[in-house]
Order: sequence, then C-alpha cells, then structure tokens
Amino acid sequence: MGDFDGKVVYITGVARGQGRKHAIRFAREGARIIGMDLCAAPSEYVKYPTTTEDDLAQTIEKVEAEGGEILAEIGDVRDLAFQQDLVSRGVERFGGRLDVVVANAGICNWGKVWEIDEQQWQDTLDINLTGYWKTLKATIPHMLEAGNGGSILLVSSVAGLKAMPVQAPYSASKHGVVGLAQTAAKELGEHNIRVNTIHPYGVLTPMGGEDPDALEVFNTMPQFLPHFTPILGMGMAKTDDISDSVLFLASDAARTITASTFQVDMGAIRV
Ligand SMILES: NC(=O)c1ccc[n+]([C@@H]2O[C@H](COP(=O)([O-])OP(=O)(O)OC[C@H]3O[C@@H](n4cnc5c(N)ncnc54)[C@H](O)[C@@H]3O)[C@@H](O)[C@H]2O)c1
Repeated sequence: MGDFDGKVVYITGVARGQGRKHAIRFAREGARIIGMDLCAAPSEYVKYPTTTEDDLAQTIEKVEAEGGEILAEIGDVRDLAFQQDLVSRGVERFGGRLDVVVANAGICNWGKVWEIDEQQWQDTLDINLTGYWKTLKATIPHMLEAGNGGSILLVSSVAGLKAMPVQAPYSASKHGVVGLAQTAAKELGEHNIRVNTIHPYGVLTPMGGEDPDALEVFNTMPQFLPHFTPILGMGMAKTDDISDSVLFLASDAARTITASTFQVDMGAIRV
C-alpha cells in the first residue's frame, strides 16, 4: 500500500534534478505520473549543463523500476497547447483523474539589474512565471472535472521570499509565483484543491551545483555572499529533502495547509 495509490500526478521538468526525484518518489507510493521536459537548452543565458533526451529516458526507466506507470514527453512549458494536449491524454489514459500538480520546470541565470539583457529577463519570466500559469491553465480544469479535490505545488525558491542580488529575473519570477499560487488557492479552496509554494535553498542538481556563472559571481562579488548564506551549515539539500516536503504537502496529512509558503531552506530566508 502506497500513500498515493491510484492517484495521478503531473510534473514539469521531470527529466532530471528535483522533478525526476519527485516522479520516482510518487511512483514508489503508487501514483501514476504524467511528465514533461524540454530536453534542450531553454535559454542562451543558462550556463549549466543542458538536459538531454537520455535524461528523460532514464527518468522513465527509474519510475518503471519502482513499478510505476509514466507518460512522459518532450515539450516546452511555454507551449500551452502542448501542456493541454499532454495532460488531457495522460488524464484519459490514467482513468479520468488528476490529483497532484507539481510546477517545477525552471531556469536560473545571473547579472545585475541594469546589466542583464532584455531577452534574459524575458526568457526567465516566460519559463519561471508564465510557464507556471500555463501549467495551472492546462491542469485545473481536469481537477475540477474529476471532483476529487487535490494539491498543487509551485516550486519557488528562497529567491521567491527574499530578494537575491545578481538574480533579478529569477527573484522577480519566483516572487510572482507566490502571488499566482495564493490567488489560485483562494479560487480553488471551495473545490478542496490546495495550492502551496515551496521554497528551497540550494539543491544538488545541475542548476544548483554546476553553474559556472554562480561560481563567477561568488568569486568576483564576495560582498553579496551573505545573502546566500543559510542558518544551517549543512551544504546543499539533496533532491530527496525536497521530495519529502512535496509528498507531504501533496498528501492528506497536509489537508489543512493551503496558500502557504513552505520553506525548505535551512533558514536562509531569515538571514
Ligand atoms: N537547484 C537549486 O538550487 C534550486 C533552489 C531553489 C529552487 N529551485 C527550483 O527548483 C526547480 C527545479 O530545478 P532543479 O534544481 O531540479 O534544476 P534542473 O536544471 O536540474 O532541472 C530543471 C528541469 O527543468 C527543465 N526545463 C527548463 N526549462 C524548461 C521549459 N521551458 N520547458 C520544460 N522543461 C524545462 C530542464 O530541462 C530541467 O530538466 C526550478 O523551478 C528551480 O528554480 C532550484
């Protein structure tokens, strides 16, 4: 018996990193997964390694190794029609229900407010904020139609509650996600659909651990380092740490929690 037996979960950015781990963990608990990922460079301003089709194939393999079922395809969160079509087919294939949504696909890049390019700003907002809205637009009608309630999680960041220097588009988009989530929470409460944001500090993924531009910033602008220092000096979180919170918020154990900003941040927001 798993905690999510018979449930259907949609996850964006599922090919690697946090999204992959969430898929594996939900599958282990009995859920069926609908997933998507770009599997290509999302923006010329992202300098950490690009996700590949092989990464997505590995996610599928790992989910199936847990005994899980997954429908996962290559696509862009900026493409509303793609998300709508994929979710519709997934919901039909998995019995006409959608219980959990994890809006997770995102990008990160660096630069001071007046030095970043227009395209850098636009790419980040298009993926990290408008892309999340498109995920909600593609999924909420199915949750309402199924009438089973549910849980929606929008992955924000420490940068969604505390402004981070040298990360203006990232910070602005992650703050925007909070407003989007809390609006949706107010509109969906009467349908017993809960909507929360989660706010990790650094997580050991290619975004969190392999970004040459981040190292460059920390080496050349040490005056900004205090903003990136958490209370708990334990290094970066593991993807499982974030999955623990995602599965909790998606579960009935969190049935009283909505419109929250759930911090998984080693206290970094309070520094
Ligand atoms: N890693 C960290 O330190 C950290 C900290 C706080 C918050 N976050 C957030 O966590 C989420 C997951 O990030 P991660 O750490 O797993 O990074 P990651 O780069 O390993 O994974 C993100 C995935 O999203 C996909 N993606 C990017 N743009 C896309 C698009 N337009 N359409 C579809 N897929 C797209 C990528 O291909 C990639 O597979 C992001 O929203 C990120 O902002 C990360």
